[in-house]
Amino acid sequence: MGAAVPEHRRVVVAGGGNGAHVAVATIAHRTGREVVWYLPYGDEATAVASALDIPPHALTVITPAGGFQVSAQNLLVTGDPSVAATADTVLLVSPAFAHRSLLQGLAPHLQPGTAVGAIPSRGGFEYEVEELVGPGVTVFGLQTLPWACRLESFGRTVRVLGTKNLTYLGCRPRTQGPALAARLTVWLGTPVVPGGGLTAMTLANTGQVLHPGLMTVHIRRWQRGAWPAVGEPPLFYQDAGEEGAELVATMSREVLAVAERLAALANGSRSESAPVDGDLGSALAGGTAFGDALDLSTVVDVFTWLRRSYEGQIGDVSSFSRALATNRAYQGIRVPVADGPPSRRPDLTSRYLTEDVPFGLAVTKGLAELAGVVTPTIDAVLGEAGDWLGTTFVDAGHLSAQGLARTRAPQRFGITTLARALAGEGETLSCREAVAKHG
Ligand code: NAI
Repeated sequence: MGAAVPEHRRVVVAGGGNGAHVAVATIAHRTGREVVWYLPYGDEATAVASALDIPPHALTVITPAGGFQVSAQNLLVTGDPSVAATADTVLLVSPAFAHRSLLQGLAPHLQPGTAVGAIPSRGGFEYEVEELVGPGVTVFGLQTLPWACRLESFGRTVRVLGTKNLTYLGCRPRTQGPALAARLTVWLGTPVVPGGGLTAMTLANTGQVLHPGLMTVHIRRWQRGAWPAVGEPPLFYQDAGEEGAELVATMSREVLAVAERLAALANGSRSESAPVDGDLGSALAGGTAFGDALDLSTVVDVFTWLRRSYEGQIGDVSSFSRALATNRAYQGIRVPVADGPPSRRPDLTSRYLTEDVPFGLAVTKGLAELAGVVTPTIDAVLGEAGDWLGTTFVDAGHLSAQGLARTRAPQRFGITTLARALAGEGETLSCREAVAKHG
């Protein structure tokens, strides 16, 4: 760990969904270099190769401003993981539940010094990389996918509906963050800003409170027969009401309490009089004195995040519930529903649950337990989500052994101290200094 980020040799993009199509095309378009598109899932490599074999032999990205095409000649489409051996950067662009199988394929071929990242990382990505790849690689993740996008034709056309103004990058070791963020800003064509370590990405993931929180409110209503009998399913954000906003805001306050406690412990461990959690200080700082050891500045409450992220797009910011209901970017999004009989019902296989609970909320719960922070509202949501997903995530206020293996909580990887959970988050150079130095 800690080697300088090497110059561009090759970038491998793994995944064949909406975001991966945009990432592959954007990087190839902006760098003018060949991008390796690693597609091990099902017959995706063959399907993309066949699609690119048809005129115009190009991948098309449609954007609000027009769009662009990338020639098939600039894309190396493969299902062979050994391409990772020549990569200096590997980007997983997929739902978090796909990271494991993608990493398992790539891991034996990764070389020391390679930067392995996920867009977006969701929670606990670093623990999974450490388990499957081991030390020696730089691990990074983006807080979110920079684009709202939808495939129009697999392997041929993808539509970008909108691009975020800014995306944070978390990195272990954190000192690599500024250089990686600068590289991704060029590649992705949207500002990528160093945002601390990967614990910051775990806690700053607002999808983990918005999606399971609002799903919980909608499913509870459905369970008590309060959905309209006919017509469209309820609107996910606009129909969530005060009840939804209150639940999400309370969950968000609990996430902030975890962040504040972690920051206090890190600062406490600096003081000679208040060492906490054994060797936390040395784990953070590599045994040296440290300044901004644990940078959680990207972790803000969900209402603040909403106002910042959608500035100018929200009709009424007088309250969180009004902001959710009047955000133009959320208009028309409905509760995901399952197809077919017996009757219209919420889709319990939706990513709002299958991704945001085990790879989001449960990871935060794991950190909360290590930090000794109680999270009663998050526990209640995890409890109900466990019922819907057919497992038990939380039992009597603690992560349950039954559901643990389905999550990316640190405990799932045998990590039972904060020192281990936060290892690699520290730096002797503060983020602000690094940004100033690297530009
Ligand atoms: P997607 O649902 O389009 O991705 C599906 C792809 O993931 C599949 O085609 C396959 O290549 C891969 N995959 C799925 N299961 C796999 C497995 N078991 N093994 C290997 N590969 C597997 O995902 P999308 O829409 O590209 O989203 C990627 C991430 O970005 C997700 O975390 C999503 O929550 C997030 N996101 C997406 C947005 C969007 O507008 N699409 C907006 C904001 C966030």
